Amino acid sequence: MSTTAELDPSLHDLLSDEAVNHPERFYARLRGISPVLWNPRWKGWIVTSHDAVMGGFRDFERLSSDRFSGPFGAELRSAETSSQQLLGFLSKFFVWKDPPYHTRARALVNRAFVPKSVESMRPRIQSLVRELAAPLRDGQTVDFFSQFAFTLPMVVIAEFLGVDAEAREDVRAWSEDLGAVIFVRGHTDEKLRRGEAAMQNLANLLRPIVQDRIRSPRDDVLSALANPDDSGERLSEDEVIANAALMVFAGHETTMNLLANGIVAFNHFPDQWDLLAQQPDLLRNTVEEMLRFDGPVRGLGRWARESFDFFGHPIAEGDRVFLVQHAANRDPSAFSDPDRFDITRWPNRHTGFGQGIHTCLGAPLARLEVSEALAYLVPALRQIEVVTPKLDYIPTMVSRSLQTLQVRFHPR
Ligand code: HEM
Repeated sequence: MSTTAELDPSLHDLLSDEAVNHPERFYARLRGISPVLWNPRWKGWIVTSHDAVMGGFRDFERLSSDRFSGPFGAELRSAETSSQQLLGFLSKFFVWKDPPYHTRARALVNRAFVPKSVESMRPRIQSLVRELAAPLRDGQTVDFFSQFAFTLPMVVIAEFLGVDAEAREDVRAWSEDLGAVIFVRGHTDEKLRRGEAAMQNLANLLRPIVQDRIRSPRDDVLSALANPDDSGERLSEDEVIANAALMVFAGHETTMNLLANGIVAFNHFPDQWDLLAQQPDLLRNTVEEMLRFDGPVRGLGRWARESFDFFGHPIAEGDRVFLVQHAANRDPSAFSDPDRFDITRWPNRHTGFGQGIHTCLGAPLARLEVSEALAYLVPALRQIEVVTPKLDYIPTMVSRSLQTLQVRFHPR
């Protein structure tokens, strides 16, 4: 523990204006004191160097993802709530599980993410991008989220799962209510009640589709989720529904924020937009640099199953650990000139999709969506100008999400 941190209380507040709106500055200050630093207010360790964040993600045996035991479980249970049903569903999210449950569920879900099924979405994504971008080319100011960044991933994930895209506004609202439970610390009864209603609504939407795929499997993602594998292993109906809901949530919120944060990055570094227009072969690098520079996930929590030495720091059994991906991605010992958005950067060992056994399953789909969006927008537009006067981010520790983003499109 550091005396400096004890002297400067502003460093303890992980939801301060600086932490929320300027995480690169805030976490650089923490890293400067110690890359693994005890935070008395959050009552856990804040990890900010690239090697320690990567190491933390890989150390699944000692650093647990289980949200239903340890300190996170205690917090969930402490809320006075009738939300047993919600907790029942959330407890089936395999992202919040350790092996062996996680291994089994991930293997079953993974069958749905074969390159063929993801690649089969490409023509649909291309036509959606064209459809959404067409009204954006008239030089008017628009809300980038509602016009583009929300709709693209929501329709894609809905169709990927076989959910009627007409339900997308409802699904968005439910997904936001669920997000309030998933992303924000401090579970009030009201928040849990809304989360419960949202999960119930999502389950009602998904259940008949899942039952249909069990009766008559097709060559699609929900059929892969709902039916047994070669060894006869299968997920229960509720597990299928819970993990399909997880994908709705994980698949749209993150990709939406990656698109929006990327537009802000290009706005600060317009030379990079021009460079991509001149060299479209930099598209792949660009998506990775967007994930590094300002990815949609700020950081993720774990807790220690045992006491151990973590990069020279004495972590005790039951301690919480926050692996700050944003900080790792701006660590000067891992990236040269880390605060520069540089689409030629390669290799790019960013932590945006996590690392280890929980590495993002949807990464190929997210990469496909964002690269198809840029492949269309960059040649069509000279600039996407951010007109929101002051960028404000939603105050959560996990999600890097703008409150609003007004932009003006300038055609070439
Ligand atoms: C830019 C977009 C995305 C980002 C930055 C992102 C980020 C992440 C990260 C950091 C994790 C690791 C969680 C952990 O270690 O606790 C993760 C896991 C996961 N993501 Fe994504 N994600 C994105 C898009 C998607 C999409 C499009 C889908 C689904 C279609 C998806 C589905 C999942 C699932 C199912 C997991 C759990 C994997 C496991 O626990 O084994 N993600 N994601």
